[in-house]
Amino acid sequence: MAERWDIRLRLLHWAVAVTAMFQQFSSLWMSDPGSQYLFPWHRLVGMLAALIVLLFWLYSYAVYDLQRLFPWGREGRRMVLREGLDLVHGKLPQSGPRRGLSSFVHGLGLLALSGCAATGMVLFAMIPPGHVGPPADGLAFTRYTLQHKFFGQLLWYYWYGHVMFAVVHQLRGDNLLGAIFGLCRENRRRGRSTVS
Ligand code: HEM
Ligand code: HEM
Repeated sequence: MAERWDIRLRLLHWAVAVTAMFQQFSSLWMSDPGSQYLFPWHRLVGMLAALIVLLFWLYSYAVYDLQRLFPWGREGRRMVLREGLDLVHGKLPQSGPRRGLSSFVHGLGLLALSGCAATGMVLFAMIPPGHVGPPADGLAFTRYTLQHKFFGQLLWYYWYGHVMFAVVHQLRGDNLLGAIFGLCRENRRRGRSTVS
């Protein structure tokens, strides 16, 4: 069994994964004539997702270990490079609550999600509650929509890779899914990164 994450981080990951995926999948159909009712939900759940992303950042910064997501120390940078080269040669990077290539990619995914959240909040503010029709400043709205779509695309790329690597690790017998989605409280104190 792979080492588990801190229980609070596991709960935050649940919240991030569920809300971000709701946003991704609702965006696929919310412009279609029969399913436009999804857009108000995309607006509301988007604001919730933005709040959860903020909590994730605060928790990683203040309590957990931000260097896990952005290993900017010399040792961390070397490890990311080494694991990147190993990956090119077909060796899967190590996973789990530690610093390395996987955790750095999670940091990049979180940045893409934060981009969606920030531009989504601007879009939210541009459409007052109950408003029907195009917003007052159509040009600015379109500009923010394009930026929102840009981050949305990056989030999809991250999501494909993230799910694929999770499945590959699982098939190799690492039970990473149990380590990040499991909800019992054991191993709580072992959730910190182990490599500096
Ligand atoms: C868009 C939705 C998602 C986002 C933004 C996301 C984000 C993250 C982040 C930031 C981490 C790192 C946790 C940390 O150490 O701080 C992580 C880990 C993980 N997530 Fe997700 N996640 C998403 C969806 C999913 C889904 C659907 C799965 C299941 C297939 C999944 C499986 C995992 C696993 C197995 C890990 C541990 C990976 C490792 O050890 O390298 N995630 N995720
Ligand atoms: C973290 C929160 C959010 C995430 C992850 C998210 C994600 C996405 C994604 C993946 C798309 C599809 C992009 C594409 O077509 O390639 C999208 C579209 C869109 N989102 Fe969000 N969204 C979030 C919050 C919001 C909020 C709060 C609003 C407020 C109004 C919003 C408004 C829109 C609009 C208008 C589009 C359609 C863009 C277009 O196709 O022209 N989003 N969103």
